[in-house]
Amino acid sequence: MRVIIRPDYDEMSKWAANYVAKSILEFKPTPESPFVLGCPTGSSPIGLYRELIKKYEAGEISFQNVVTFNMDEYVRIPEDHPESYHSFMWKNFFSHIDIKPENVHILNGNADDLEAECANYEKAIAAVGGIHLFMGGVGPDGHLAFNEPGSSLNGLTHVETLTTDTIIANSRFFDNDINLVPKKALTVGIGTVMAAKEVLLVCNGHHKARALKHIVDGNVSHKWTASMLQTHPAAIVVCDEAACDELSVGTFKYFLDKERDNF
Ligand code: GLP
Repeated sequence: MRVIIRPDYDEMSKWAANYVAKSILEFKPTPESPFVLGCPTGSSPIGLYRELIKKYEAGEISFQNVVTFNMDEYVRIPEDHPESYHSFMWKNFFSHIDIKPENVHILNGNADDLEAECANYEKAIAAVGGIHLFMGGVGPDGHLAFNEPGSSLNGLTHVETLTTDTIIANSRFFDNDINLVPKKALTVGIGTVMAAKEVLLVCNGHHKARALKHIVDGNVSHKWTASMLQTHPAAIVVCDEAACDELSVGTFKYFLDKERDNF
C-alpha cells in the first residue's frame, strides 16, 4: 500500500486528480477499449471531481471513452432525490464532463429484485473486462463503499444494512434527521474493489484519523473493511495531514520519506 500525505484537502484532491488523469491518458482509451473507472460519492471526493472537471475544461482530458461503475446507492429512495447517489454523481461530476450517459453505471436501489440487480452489476463489470482504477472514500468507521464493519473481505456486490454509525454520519445530508436516512444500501463488495487493477482512496480530516490508523497502522480486519487494501497489489491512500493525527510517528515519517519524490 502507498500512503501519500499532503498538507491539506486541496493538495490531496489535486494529487488524486493528477493520478487519475495520468492513468486515463496513459491508457489511451478507445471506444473498443475504454478505461473503466470506479467512482465513489461522499464529501471526500468532491475536490477530486472538481479537479478532474478543471482538467476537462482545460482540454487536458476527455471522458468520452471512459466507462464508470459507482460504488453504491441507497435502497428505496427515488433516483431523483437530491441525496441519491445518482443525483450526487450527475451534480458533482458527470454533467460537467463529456462522459456518454450509456457508459455510466450506478446500482439501482429501486430494482424489484435487489439480489438480481447486484448479480447483474458484477456481470456488467466483468463484461467490460473489470475495473482499471477504483476510486474511493472511507467512512469514519473504516468502511469502504458501504461495506460496514463485519462485511466479508471477499464479498461481491450485495445489499447492506447500514450501521448506526453510518446512519448518524450520513444524517447530515438528510436534515440531521436519522429517520430520513435510508437504512439499507446496495454496494460493491470488498472483493469487487480488490479485483480492480488499482485502487485509490482519498481520506481527509481529523474525523477520519481513527479509520486511517486502523487502515494503515492496524491489521487487516473485517472491523475496518478498507484495511483489506493492505493486501491489494496496487492500492494508494491519499490523505491530508489532519487524517494522520492518529498514525504512529514512525508510520507518518516512513510514508513521507518513501514518497518524497512523488509530490
Ligand atoms: C458513505 C459512502 C462511502 C463514503 C463514506 C464517507 O458511507 N457510502 O462510499 O466513503 O460515506 O463519506 P464522506 O466522504 O462524506 O466522509
